[in-house]
Amino acid sequence: MKVTVQQTELAAVDADLVAIGLYDDESPPDAIAAAAGAAAASGDFRKLSAVFPDGSARVVVAGLGKREEIDPERLRVAAALVAKEAGRLEAGSLAWVLPEASGDDAAAAEALVTGTILGAHRFDRFKGAAEEDPPARLESLTLLAPASVAAEAEIARVYAEAQNRARELQSTPANFATPSFLAARAEEIAAGATAVSAEVLGPEEIAAKGMGGLAAVSQGGPEEPRLIVLRYAGGGSGPTLGLVGKGVTFDTGGISLKPGAGMQEMKMDMSGAAAVLEAVAAIAELGLAIDLVAVVPSTENMPSGTAVKPGDVITQLNGKTVEVNNTDAEGRLILADALTYAVELGAERIVDLATLTGAVVIALGSTYAAVIANDDELAADVARAGERSGELTWRLPLHPEFKELMKGTVADLSNLASKRKAGTITAASFLEEFVDGTPWAHVDIAGTAWDVGRAYTGSDASGFGVRLLVELARELSA
Ligand code: BES
Ligand code: ZN
Ligand code: ZN
Repeated sequence: MKVTVQQTELAAVDADLVAIGLYDDESPPDAIAAAAGAAAASGDFRKLSAVFPDGSARVVVAGLGKREEIDPERLRVAAALVAKEAGRLEAGSLAWVLPEASGDDAAAAEALVTGTILGAHRFDRFKGAAEEDPPARLESLTLLAPASVAAEAEIARVYAEAQNRARELQSTPANFATPSFLAARAEEIAAGATAVSAEVLGPEEIAAKGMGGLAAVSQGGPEEPRLIVLRYAGGGSGPTLGLVGKGVTFDTGGISLKPGAGMQEMKMDMSGAAAVLEAVAAIAELGLAIDLVAVVPSTENMPSGTAVKPGDVITQLNGKTVEVNNTDAEGRLILADALTYAVELGAERIVDLATLTGAVVIALGSTYAAVIANDDELAADVARAGERSGELTWRLPLHPEFKELMKGTVADLSNLASKRKAGTITAASFLEEFVDGTPWAHVDIAGTAWDVGRAYTGSDASGFGVRLLVELARELSA
């Protein structure tokens, strides 16, 4: 979407649709009130109404609630509702009058741009291919705001577009979005940015290197695994940040088969990978001064006569042996190798994103992603990035007692806790065995990647993690 910032009088704006926000204590400008007529008198007016002042563009009015309660999140929601209205009205261009929001114009601009771009997104690649006259899409957004917000508006444009690309990847069905499809996307990102390079390993190299977790999970089906590496050389003085994203392009559970109901949603088990790849693309587009190494292990998890079986013992890249006591706990097996590899490749601190456990959905719903970290400073950096981006995180603890639950009977470790307790934390405790003491924060996004239900993410792919990682990189590069 084209985003511009300009300070023009409302009457002089050239856009299909103009949006204004109104606080509870505000009355609409006269021209709008007159045009709205009876609607203005009704309580509904403040929720969202499109009115037609004589001769000029349509105006949509978004209620912003109580002035003292305004925050960026509320503006993202208002902007998304307006973007959806723009879709219904088939508006190609929208102008937003920047509301006065606690004096922080830059934050308000970020929120309007993010909410508009995310709210306008539709996944319709597989719909109506034959349609001759597709409805107009919102193609441009003008913020009627001081020029001082332009830089923040541009950053928001970049990461919101990246988040929409991550949503496309998440929603793309598993017969299209395979491990090699994700690898091709990584190569495309590298081709589009001089400071980014990609390296992709196939099944033979994965096995030869000793990535026993990724090899084991992939052995159940014919779709070849990929170990995808993206490097971004942005410079700066800080340590290299490692990003790791779970890229299971379909999780059937394997021999420990999942129930059939709802299984189609497991095409989203590569949401961590999608967020990491598109965050790297956004960070490179913004030219942030930071060095990144991103590692994405990608495979399907299928049952078959060649699949890994409960009780099988595998050897991970760092030499630790693991009893695979539940083949549906496959994410930690592939992440274990990827974390070790990220350290080998020079990551000095690591953040991993993974749709890892159903338990996190029970614990934190779709409102917070769980963060489990071995390093307080990195955990605090992630939490701050969450607050700034609106992608919220909540820290859960590590403890030696959780480690105890992950010991194997015949191998060093089990991929399944011996008791059904603290499933999100025991999964993270397993991962900690593979970071070799490197500062590390694991973000379990199983609850926040899908069906978040906010106005700007809807009920399917949310793209969670892109804005979180970009904000983190901004903070670490500052
Ligand atoms: N991909 C799932 C986790 C998941 C659940 C993602 C719901 C998105 C929504 C993961 O591979 C898995 O199956 N985890 C198991 C682990 C268990 C067997 C220890 C789980 O959480 O049930
Ligand atoms: Zn699973
Ligand atoms: Zn999974």
